[in-house]
Amino acid sequence: MSSGCRLRVAICGAGIAGLTCALALSRHPDIEIDVFESAGKLAEVGAGIGLFPRPWQIIRELGLEQDLLKTTESRLIEGPVPSFRYRKSDQREGLEFYRLITQGALIFLHRADYQQTLLRHLPASCRTYCSKRLRTYIQRSGAIELFFEDGTSHVCDVLIGADGLKSVVRKAMLNEKADRAKAQGRWKEVSEMLSSVDPVWSGTNAYRTLIPAERLRARAPTHAVLTSPMQYLGKNGYVIAYPISRGKMINFVAFDMHHELENTKFDGPWVTISDKSSFASRFRNWEPDVQALLDCVENPLLWAIHTIPPMRSFISGRATVMGDAAHAMTPHEGSGAGQAIEVVVHPLLRAHHTLTINQDAYLLATVLGHHNTNRTNVYKALAVYDEIRRPAAYHVMEHSRMNGHYFTLHVDGVDFDSGKPREQWDNLQKLGRMFEKNWEWAWTTSVDGMVKEATYRMESF
Ligand SMILES: *[C@@H]1O[C@H](CO)[C@@H](O)[C@H](O)[C@H]1NC(C)=O
Repeated sequence: MSSGCRLRVAICGAGIAGLTCALALSRHPDIEIDVFESAGKLAEVGAGIGLFPRPWQIIRELGLEQDLLKTTESRLIEGPVPSFRYRKSDQREGLEFYRLITQGALIFLHRADYQQTLLRHLPASCRTYCSKRLRTYIQRSGAIELFFEDGTSHVCDVLIGADGLKSVVRKAMLNEKADRAKAQGRWKEVSEMLSSVDPVWSGTNAYRTLIPAERLRARAPTHAVLTSPMQYLGKNGYVIAYPISRGKMINFVAFDMHHELENTKFDGPWVTISDKSSFASRFRNWEPDVQALLDCVENPLLWAIHTIPPMRSFISGRATVMGDAAHAMTPHEGSGAGQAIEVVVHPLLRAHHTLTINQDAYLLATVLGHHNTNRTNVYKALAVYDEIRRPAAYHVMEHSRMNGHYFTLHVDGVDFDSGKPREQWDNLQKLGRMFEKNWEWAWTTSVDGMVKEATYRMESF
Protein backbone atom coordinates (compact mmCIF):
# COMPACT_ATOMS: atom_id res chain seq x y z
CA MET A 1 0.00 0.00 0.00
CA SER A 2 1.39 3.41 -0.91
CA SER A 3 1.76 5.76 2.04
CA GLY A 4 -0.56 8.48 0.74
CA CYS A 5 -3.45 6.09 0.16
CA ARG A 6 -6.70 7.13 1.80
CA LEU A 7 -8.94 4.37 0.45
CA ARG A 8 -8.36 1.00 -1.23
CA VAL A 9 -11.12 0.31 -3.78
CA ALA A 10 -11.61 -3.04 -5.53
CA ILE A 11 -13.84 -3.23 -8.60
CA CYS A 12 -15.11 -6.58 -9.86
CA GLY A 13 -15.75 -6.47 -13.60
CA ALA A 14 -13.65 -4.70 -16.24
CA GLY A 15 -16.48 -4.05 -18.68
CA ILE A 16 -17.64 -0.57 -19.60
CA ALA A 17 -19.20 -0.06 -16.15
CA GLY A 18 -16.18 -1.13 -14.09
CA LEU A 19 -13.64 0.73 -16.21
CA THR A 20 -15.68 3.95 -16.30
CA CYS A 21 -15.88 3.75 -12.53
CA ALA A 22 -12.12 3.13 -12.27
CA LEU A 23 -11.37 6.07 -14.55
CA ALA A 24 -13.66 8.41 -12.59
CA LEU A 25 -12.05 7.29 -9.31
CA SER A 26 -8.52 7.64 -10.70
CA ARG A 27 -8.92 11.40 -10.69
CA HIS A 28 -8.37 11.12 -6.93
CA PRO A 29 -4.70 10.18 -6.55
CA ASP A 30 -5.12 9.13 -2.92
CA ILE A 31 -7.49 6.30 -3.89
CA GLU A 32 -5.90 2.95 -4.71
CA ILE A 33 -7.77 1.05 -7.43
CA ASP A 34 -7.66 -2.64 -8.38
CA VAL A 35 -9.94 -4.00 -11.10
CA PHE A 36 -10.63 -7.75 -11.24
CA GLU A 37 -12.05 -9.33 -14.38
CA SER A 38 -13.25 -12.93 -14.50
CA ALA A 39 -12.58 -13.38 -18.23
CA GLY A 40 -9.14 -14.36 -19.47
CA LYS A 41 -8.72 -11.14 -21.42
CA LEU A 42 -10.32 -7.75 -21.77
CA ALA A 43 -12.30 -8.05 -24.95
CA GLU A 44 -15.76 -6.60 -25.04
CA VAL A 45 -17.79 -7.63 -28.04
CA GLY A 46 -21.33 -6.89 -29.08
CA ALA A 47 -23.31 -4.35 -30.92
CA GLY A 48 -22.40 -1.21 -29.10
CA ILE A 49 -23.57 1.57 -26.88
CA GLY A 50 -25.26 4.88 -27.50
CA LEU A 51 -25.35 8.35 -26.02
CA PHE A 52 -27.10 11.62 -26.76
CA PRO A 53 -25.06 14.87 -26.84
CA ARG A 54 -26.43 16.39 -23.64
CA PRO A 55 -25.44 13.52 -21.32
CA TRP A 56 -22.12 13.41 -23.17
CA GLN A 57 -21.00 15.71 -20.35
CA ILE A 58 -19.51 12.87 -18.27
CA ILE A 59 -17.51 11.59 -21.25
CA ARG A 60 -16.09 15.08 -21.68
CA GLU A 61 -15.19 15.42 -18.01
CA LEU A 62 -13.44 12.07 -18.04
CA GLY A 63 -11.34 13.32 -20.96
CA LEU A 64 -12.62 10.67 -23.37
CA GLU A 65 -14.41 12.86 -25.89
CA GLN A 66 -11.79 13.31 -28.61
CA ASP A 67 -10.61 9.70 -28.59
CA LEU A 68 -14.14 8.30 -28.63
CA LEU A 69 -15.27 10.52 -31.48
CA LYS A 70 -12.37 9.17 -33.56
CA THR A 71 -13.87 5.67 -33.30
CA THR A 72 -17.30 6.44 -34.71
CA GLU A 73 -19.02 7.70 -37.84
CA SER A 74 -21.59 9.42 -35.61
CA ARG A 75 -21.26 13.12 -35.14
CA LEU A 76 -22.26 15.35 -32.27
CA ILE A 77 -25.45 16.86 -33.64
CA GLU A 78 -27.42 19.03 -31.26
CA GLY A 79 -30.92 20.39 -31.67
CA PRO A 80 -34.04 18.49 -32.75
CA VAL A 81 -33.42 15.38 -34.86
CA PRO A 82 -36.14 13.22 -36.45
CA SER A 83 -35.87 9.67 -35.19
CA PHE A 84 -38.17 6.61 -35.30
CA ARG A 85 -41.44 6.56 -37.22
CA TYR A 86 -44.18 4.60 -35.49
CA ARG A 87 -46.94 2.57 -37.14
CA LYS A 88 -49.82 0.52 -35.88
CA SER A 89 -49.10 -2.59 -37.92
CA ASP A 90 -51.18 -5.48 -36.63
CA GLN A 91 -53.70 -5.03 -39.45
CA ARG A 92 -53.83 -5.45 -43.23
CA GLU A 93 -53.08 -1.82 -43.87
CA GLY A 94 -50.74 -0.16 -41.37
CA LEU A 95 -51.32 3.28 -39.91
CA GLU A 96 -48.43 5.65 -39.37
CA PHE A 97 -49.23 7.79 -36.34
CA TYR A 98 -46.10 9.26 -34.76
CA ARG A 99 -42.63 10.54 -35.45
CA LEU A 100 -40.23 10.73 -32.56
CA ILE A 101 -38.05 13.84 -32.35
CA THR A 102 -34.98 13.65 -30.11
CA GLN A 103 -32.78 16.46 -28.85
CA GLY A 104 -29.55 15.72 -30.61
CA ALA A 105 -28.64 12.61 -32.57
CA LEU A 106 -27.73 9.35 -30.87
CA ILE A 107 -23.99 8.67 -31.01
CA PHE A 108 -23.10 5.00 -31.55
CA LEU A 109 -19.89 3.58 -30.17
CA HIS A 110 -18.59 0.03 -30.47
CA ARG A 111 -18.18 -1.66 -27.12
CA ALA A 112 -14.66 -2.88 -27.92
CA ASP A 113 -13.51 0.63 -28.95
CA TYR A 114 -15.07 2.11 -25.86
CA GLN A 115 -13.39 -0.42 -23.58
CA GLN A 116 -9.99 0.11 -25.24
CA THR A 117 -10.34 3.89 -24.94
CA LEU A 118 -11.16 3.58 -21.25
CA LEU A 119 -8.17 1.28 -20.70
CA ARG A 120 -5.81 3.68 -22.49
CA HIS A 121 -6.93 6.51 -20.23
CA LEU A 122 -6.46 4.62 -16.97
CA PRO A 123 -3.32 5.71 -15.14
CA ALA A 124 -0.67 3.03 -14.55
CA SER A 125 -1.38 3.21 -10.82
CA CYS A 126 -4.76 1.60 -11.47
CA ARG A 127 -4.14 -2.13 -11.79
CA THR A 128 -6.32 -4.51 -13.82
CA TYR A 129 -6.19 -8.30 -13.43
CA CYS A 130 -7.76 -10.94 -15.70
CA SER A 131 -8.94 -14.49 -14.85
CA LYS A 132 -9.96 -13.31 -11.38
CA ARG A 133 -13.45 -14.67 -10.79
CA LEU A 134 -14.82 -13.70 -7.40
CA ARG A 135 -16.13 -16.58 -5.27
CA THR A 136 -17.26 -14.54 -2.28
CA TYR A 137 -16.16 -11.89 0.19
CA ILE A 138 -16.11 -11.43 3.96
CA GLN A 139 -16.49 -8.09 5.71
CA ARG A 140 -14.51 -7.73 8.89
CA SER A 141 -14.31 -4.67 11.08
CA GLY A 142 -12.60 -2.08 8.97
CA ALA A 143 -11.97 -4.04 5.74
CA ILE A 144 -13.27 -6.51 3.17
CA GLU A 145 -11.45 -9.63 2.09
CA LEU A 146 -12.18 -10.94 -1.41
CA PHE A 147 -11.78 -14.62 -2.25
CA PHE A 148 -11.26 -15.64 -5.86
CA GLU A 149 -11.95 -18.95 -7.57
CA ASP A 150 -8.21 -19.41 -8.19
CA GLY A 151 -7.58 -19.60 -4.44
CA THR A 152 -6.10 -16.11 -4.08
CA SER A 153 -7.49 -13.31 -1.94
CA HIS A 154 -7.30 -9.53 -1.71
CA VAL A 155 -8.02 -7.00 1.04
CA CYS A 156 -9.66 -3.63 0.39
CA ASP A 157 -11.77 -0.91 2.06
CA VAL A 158 -14.54 -0.79 -0.54
CA LEU A 159 -15.85 -3.38 -2.99
CA ILE A 160 -17.73 -2.28 -6.11
CA GLY A 161 -19.55 -4.98 -8.07
CA ALA A 162 -19.66 -4.04 -11.76
CA ASP A 163 -19.94 -7.68 -12.74
CA GLY A 164 -23.13 -7.66 -14.74
CA LEU A 165 -26.48 -9.40 -14.81
CA LYS A 166 -25.21 -12.55 -13.06
CA SER A 167 -23.17 -10.55 -10.55
CA VAL A 168 -21.28 -12.54 -7.91
CA VAL A 169 -20.92 -9.42 -5.78
CA ARG A 170 -24.69 -8.95 -5.75
CA LYS A 171 -25.17 -12.59 -4.80
CA ALA A 172 -22.60 -12.43 -1.97
CA MET A 173 -24.04 -9.13 -0.77
CA LEU A 174 -27.62 -10.36 -0.69
CA ASN A 175 -26.63 -13.61 1.02
CA GLU A 176 -24.74 -11.62 3.63
CA LYS A 177 -27.77 -9.39 4.26
CA ALA A 178 -30.11 -12.38 4.34
CA ASP A 179 -27.89 -14.10 6.93
CA ARG A 180 -28.00 -10.99 9.07
CA ALA A 181 -31.79 -10.76 8.73
CA LYS A 182 -32.11 -14.48 9.60
CA ALA A 183 -30.03 -14.01 12.75
CA GLN A 184 -32.39 -11.26 13.79
CA GLY A 185 -35.54 -13.20 12.94
CA ARG A 186 -36.60 -10.88 10.10
CA TRP A 187 -37.87 -13.76 7.98
CA LYS A 188 -39.93 -11.79 5.50
CA GLU A 189 -36.89 -9.75 4.49
CA VAL A 190 -34.84 -12.91 3.99
CA SER A 191 -36.93 -14.21 1.10
CA GLU A 192 -37.25 -10.74 -0.38
CA MET A 193 -33.47 -10.28 -0.40
CA LEU A 194 -32.83 -13.69 -1.89
CA SER A 195 -35.36 -13.04 -4.66
CA SER A 196 -32.94 -10.53 -6.23
CA VAL A 197 -30.01 -12.95 -6.38
CA ASP A 198 -31.00 -14.48 -9.73
CA PRO A 199 -32.33 -12.63 -12.79
CA VAL A 200 -35.96 -13.24 -13.80
CA TRP A 201 -37.47 -13.45 -17.28
CA SER A 202 -39.19 -10.25 -18.40
CA GLY A 203 -41.79 -12.23 -20.37
CA THR A 204 -40.21 -10.88 -23.54
CA ASN A 205 -38.18 -12.62 -26.19
CA ALA A 206 -36.26 -10.67 -28.78
CA TYR A 207 -35.31 -12.09 -32.18
CA ARG A 208 -32.49 -10.21 -33.77
CA THR A 209 -30.73 -10.40 -37.07
CA LEU A 210 -28.97 -8.27 -39.66
CA ILE A 211 -30.57 -8.07 -43.10
CA PRO A 212 -28.48 -6.99 -46.10
CA ALA A 213 -30.20 -3.89 -47.49
CA GLU A 214 -29.89 -5.35 -51.01
CA ARG A 215 -32.00 -8.35 -50.03
CA LEU A 216 -34.76 -6.13 -48.69
CA ARG A 217 -34.54 -3.82 -51.69
CA ALA A 218 -35.00 -6.77 -54.04
CA ARG A 219 -38.10 -7.81 -52.12
CA ALA A 220 -39.55 -4.31 -51.55
CA PRO A 221 -37.74 -1.55 -53.51
CA THR A 222 -39.31 1.38 -51.63
CA HIS A 223 -39.42 -0.11 -48.15
CA ALA A 224 -39.43 2.64 -45.49
CA VAL A 225 -36.68 0.92 -43.45
CA LEU A 226 -34.18 1.47 -46.28
CA THR A 227 -34.09 5.15 -45.38
CA SER A 228 -35.58 5.62 -41.92
CA PRO A 229 -35.65 4.00 -38.50
CA MET A 230 -39.05 2.34 -38.16
CA GLN A 231 -41.02 0.78 -35.36
CA TYR A 232 -44.05 -1.42 -36.10
CA LEU A 233 -46.42 -1.87 -33.17
CA GLY A 234 -49.19 -4.34 -32.45
CA LYS A 235 -50.76 -6.42 -29.75
CA ASN A 236 -48.22 -8.52 -27.83
CA GLY A 237 -45.37 -7.80 -30.16
CA TYR A 238 -43.43 -5.17 -32.05
CA VAL A 239 -40.67 -4.88 -34.62
CA ILE A 240 -37.90 -2.33 -34.83
CA ALA A 241 -35.74 -2.00 -37.90
CA TYR A 242 -33.24 0.64 -38.95
CA PRO A 243 -30.39 1.07 -41.41
CA ILE A 244 -26.82 0.74 -40.11
CA SER A 245 -23.33 0.59 -41.68
CA ARG A 246 -24.06 3.54 -43.99
CA GLY A 247 -27.29 1.93 -45.15
CA LYS A 248 -25.71 -1.38 -46.23
CA MET A 249 -27.39 -3.38 -43.46
CA ILE A 250 -30.70 -3.34 -41.65
CA ASN A 251 -30.74 -4.06 -37.93
CA PHE A 252 -33.91 -6.05 -37.27
CA VAL A 253 -35.42 -6.99 -33.90
CA ALA A 254 -38.84 -8.59 -33.39
CA PHE A 255 -40.26 -8.74 -29.89
CA ASP A 256 -42.63 -11.41 -28.71
CA MET A 257 -44.17 -10.31 -25.41
CA HIS A 258 -46.06 -12.32 -22.84
CA HIS A 259 -47.13 -9.79 -20.25
CA GLU A 260 -48.66 -12.47 -18.03
CA LEU A 261 -45.30 -14.26 -17.75
CA GLU A 262 -43.29 -11.27 -16.52
CA ASN A 263 -40.97 -12.21 -13.61
CA THR A 264 -41.20 -15.94 -14.18
CA LYS A 265 -38.46 -18.46 -14.87
CA PHE A 266 -37.48 -18.99 -18.50
CA ASP A 267 -37.06 -22.58 -19.67
CA GLY A 268 -34.15 -23.08 -22.02
CA PRO A 269 -31.04 -21.16 -22.98
CA TRP A 270 -31.31 -17.38 -22.69
CA VAL A 271 -29.44 -16.79 -25.92
CA THR A 272 -29.59 -19.18 -28.83
CA ILE A 273 -29.77 -19.34 -32.61
CA SER A 274 -33.43 -19.68 -33.49
CA ASP A 275 -35.47 -19.92 -36.65
CA LYS A 276 -38.15 -17.79 -38.13
CA SER A 277 -40.97 -20.27 -37.54
CA SER A 278 -40.65 -19.82 -33.77
CA PHE A 279 -41.92 -16.25 -33.90
CA ALA A 280 -43.17 -15.31 -37.37
CA SER A 281 -46.67 -16.64 -36.73
CA ARG A 282 -47.08 -13.93 -34.12
CA PHE A 283 -46.97 -11.38 -36.98
CA ARG A 284 -49.05 -13.36 -39.51
CA ASN A 285 -51.76 -10.76 -40.05
CA TRP A 286 -49.53 -7.71 -39.88
CA GLU A 287 -49.08 -5.15 -42.66
CA PRO A 288 -47.07 -5.88 -45.87
CA ASP A 289 -43.96 -3.91 -44.78
CA VAL A 290 -43.59 -6.26 -41.81
CA GLN A 291 -44.09 -9.31 -44.05
CA ALA A 292 -41.37 -8.05 -46.39
CA LEU A 293 -38.93 -7.77 -43.47
CA LEU A 294 -39.87 -11.21 -42.15
CA ASP A 295 -39.29 -12.70 -45.61
CA CYS A 296 -35.68 -11.49 -45.38
CA VAL A 297 -34.94 -12.93 -41.91
CA GLU A 298 -32.67 -15.96 -41.59
CA ASN A 299 -31.54 -17.67 -38.38
CA PRO A 300 -32.28 -14.88 -35.92
CA LEU A 301 -30.68 -14.89 -32.50
CA LEU A 302 -33.28 -15.52 -29.83
CA TRP A 303 -32.66 -13.62 -26.66
CA ALA A 304 -34.85 -14.15 -23.60
CA ILE A 305 -34.66 -10.79 -21.86
CA HIS A 306 -33.95 -10.99 -18.13
CA THR A 307 -33.93 -8.37 -15.40
CA ILE A 308 -33.04 -8.15 -11.70
CA PRO A 309 -36.00 -7.80 -9.31
CA PRO A 310 -35.67 -4.41 -7.56
CA MET A 311 -33.62 -4.38 -4.37
CA ARG A 312 -34.20 -2.28 -1.28
CA SER A 313 -30.59 -1.24 -1.30
CA PHE A 314 -27.50 -1.34 -3.53
CA ILE A 315 -25.16 -1.55 -0.54
CA SER A 316 -24.14 -3.71 2.37
CA GLY A 317 -21.58 -2.06 4.62
CA ARG A 318 -18.51 -1.53 2.43
CA ALA A 319 -19.84 -3.41 -0.58
CA THR A 320 -21.98 -2.03 -3.38
CA VAL A 321 -23.13 -2.80 -6.92
CA MET A 322 -23.47 -0.62 -10.02
CA GLY A 323 -24.58 -0.92 -13.65
CA ASP A 324 -26.24 -4.16 -14.76
CA ALA A 325 -25.26 -5.85 -11.49
CA ALA A 326 -27.58 -3.40 -9.75
CA HIS A 327 -30.32 -2.69 -12.28
CA ALA A 328 -30.06 -4.67 -15.51
CA MET A 329 -32.04 -3.01 -18.27
CA THR A 330 -30.39 -4.31 -21.41
CA PRO A 331 -28.63 -7.46 -20.32
CA HIS A 332 -26.04 -8.93 -22.60
CA GLU A 333 -25.53 -12.58 -22.11
CA GLY A 334 -22.65 -14.98 -22.38
CA SER A 335 -23.22 -17.85 -24.76
CA GLY A 336 -21.92 -21.36 -24.14
CA ALA A 337 -18.57 -20.61 -25.72
CA GLY A 338 -17.91 -17.94 -23.12
CA GLN A 339 -18.32 -15.24 -25.69
CA ALA A 340 -20.56 -12.33 -24.87
CA ILE A 341 -23.37 -11.73 -27.31
CA GLU A 342 -25.29 -8.55 -27.03
CA VAL A 343 -28.68 -8.11 -28.56
CA VAL A 344 -29.78 -4.55 -28.72
CA VAL A 345 -33.31 -4.11 -27.47
CA HIS A 346 -33.78 -0.63 -28.74
CA PRO A 347 -31.24 2.10 -29.52
CA LEU A 348 -33.01 4.46 -27.14
CA LEU A 349 -32.93 1.90 -24.38
CA ARG A 350 -29.24 1.60 -25.08
CA ALA A 351 -28.89 5.32 -24.45
CA HIS A 352 -30.68 4.88 -21.13
CA HIS A 353 -28.37 2.04 -20.29
CA THR A 354 -25.12 3.87 -21.03
CA LEU A 355 -26.23 6.94 -19.19
CA THR A 356 -27.22 5.08 -16.01
CA ILE A 357 -23.84 3.33 -16.00
CA ASN A 358 -22.02 6.63 -16.41
CA GLN A 359 -24.07 8.22 -13.67
CA ASP A 360 -23.45 5.32 -11.27
CA ALA A 361 -19.72 5.53 -11.94
CA TYR A 362 -19.57 9.29 -11.68
CA LEU A 363 -21.52 9.45 -8.44
CA LEU A 364 -19.50 6.66 -6.82
CA ALA A 365 -16.36 8.65 -7.65
CA THR A 366 -17.98 11.80 -6.25
CA VAL A 367 -18.79 10.26 -2.86
CA LEU A 368 -15.66 8.12 -2.50
CA GLY A 369 -13.42 10.92 -3.74
CA HIS A 370 -14.88 13.49 -1.36
CA HIS A 371 -12.32 14.81 1.13
CA ASN A 372 -14.55 13.88 4.08
CA THR A 373 -14.56 10.20 3.14
CA ASN A 374 -12.08 7.90 4.87
CA ARG A 375 -11.72 4.20 5.74
CA THR A 376 -13.84 4.52 8.86
CA ASN A 377 -16.85 6.32 7.44
CA VAL A 378 -16.80 5.01 3.87
CA TYR A 379 -20.04 3.05 4.40
CA LYS A 380 -21.77 6.40 4.90
CA ALA A 381 -20.46 7.65 1.56
CA LEU A 382 -21.84 4.52 -0.12
CA ALA A 383 -25.20 5.18 1.55
CA VAL A 384 -25.31 8.58 -0.17
CA TYR A 385 -24.66 6.86 -3.53
CA ASP A 386 -27.42 4.36 -2.78
CA GLU A 387 -29.98 6.95 -1.72
CA ILE A 388 -29.45 9.06 -4.83
CA ARG A 389 -28.80 6.46 -7.54
CA ARG A 390 -31.20 3.67 -6.61
CA PRO A 391 -34.47 5.62 -6.98
CA ALA A 392 -33.14 7.30 -10.13
CA ALA A 393 -32.08 4.03 -11.76
CA TYR A 394 -35.36 2.32 -10.89
CA HIS A 395 -37.26 5.28 -12.27
CA VAL A 396 -35.53 4.86 -15.62
CA MET A 397 -35.97 1.09 -15.52
CA GLU A 398 -39.69 1.44 -14.86
CA HIS A 399 -40.12 3.91 -17.71
CA SER A 400 -38.32 1.60 -20.10
CA ARG A 401 -40.55 -1.23 -18.92
CA MET A 402 -43.64 0.89 -19.49
CA ASN A 403 -42.53 1.55 -23.04
CA GLY A 404 -42.53 -2.21 -23.57
CA HIS A 405 -46.20 -2.10 -22.67
CA TYR A 406 -46.95 0.91 -24.85
CA PHE A 407 -45.18 -0.66 -27.84
CA THR A 408 -47.50 -3.64 -27.54
CA LEU A 409 -50.59 -1.46 -27.27
CA HIS A 410 -51.01 -2.60 -23.70
CA VAL A 411 -52.59 0.38 -21.94
CA ASP A 412 -55.20 -0.02 -19.21
CA GLY A 413 -58.69 0.87 -20.38
CA VAL A 414 -57.73 1.60 -24.01
CA ASP A 415 -58.66 -0.68 -26.89
CA PHE A 416 -56.74 0.49 -29.91
CA ASP A 417 -58.86 -1.60 -32.28
CA SER A 418 -62.34 -0.50 -31.32
CA GLY A 419 -64.13 2.77 -31.79
CA LYS A 420 -64.24 5.21 -34.64
CA PRO A 421 -61.12 6.01 -36.70
CA ARG A 422 -60.98 9.46 -35.11
CA GLU A 423 -60.97 7.96 -31.63
CA GLN A 424 -58.31 5.41 -32.59
CA TRP A 425 -56.16 8.19 -34.04
CA ASP A 426 -56.46 10.28 -30.87
CA ASN A 427 -55.57 7.29 -28.70
CA LEU A 428 -52.51 6.53 -30.83
CA GLN A 429 -51.38 10.17 -30.65
CA LYS A 430 -51.71 10.03 -26.90
CA LEU A 431 -49.71 6.81 -26.88
CA GLY A 432 -46.95 8.46 -28.92
CA ARG A 433 -46.65 11.30 -26.44
CA MET A 434 -46.54 8.79 -23.59
CA PHE A 435 -43.59 6.85 -24.94
CA GLU A 436 -41.79 9.98 -26.07
CA LYS A 437 -42.01 11.23 -22.50
CA ASN A 438 -40.54 7.95 -21.26
CA TRP A 439 -37.52 8.21 -23.58
CA GLU A 440 -36.95 11.91 -22.96
CA TRP A 441 -34.71 11.31 -19.98
CA ALA A 442 -32.03 9.93 -22.32
CA TRP A 443 -31.51 13.22 -24.15
CA THR A 444 -32.49 15.84 -21.58
CA THR A 445 -30.80 14.71 -18.40
CA SER A 446 -27.66 16.21 -16.87
CA VAL A 447 -25.68 15.06 -13.85
CA ASP A 448 -25.27 18.44 -12.17
CA GLY A 449 -28.23 18.14 -9.79
CA MET A 450 -27.19 14.67 -8.72
CA VAL A 451 -23.60 15.68 -8.00
CA LYS A 452 -24.69 18.80 -6.12
CA GLU A 453 -27.04 16.80 -3.95
CA ALA A 454 -24.34 14.22 -3.14
CA THR A 455 -21.75 16.87 -2.37
CA TYR A 456 -24.18 18.69 -0.10
CA ARG A 457 -24.75 15.51 1.90
CA MET A 458 -21.05 14.73 2.07
CA GLU A 459 -20.25 18.17 3.49
CA SER A 460 -22.36 17.43 6.56
CA PHE A 461 -20.42 14.27 7.47
C1 LIG B 1 -12.89 9.81 9.34
O1 LIG B 1 -13.72 10.94 9.27
C2 LIG B 1 -14.51 11.10 10.42
C3 LIG B 1 -15.49 12.23 10.16
O2 LIG B 1 -14.93 13.26 9.39
C4 LIG B 1 -13.60 11.36 11.61
O3 LIG B 1 -14.38 11.51 12.78
C5 LIG B 1 -12.68 10.17 11.78
O4 LIG B 1 -11.74 10.43 12.82
C6 LIG B 1 -11.93 9.91 10.50
N1 LIG B 1 -11.19 8.65 10.63
C7 LIG B 1 -9.96 8.52 10.24
C8 LIG B 1 -9.34 7.15 10.42
O5 LIG B 1 -9.33 9.42 9.74
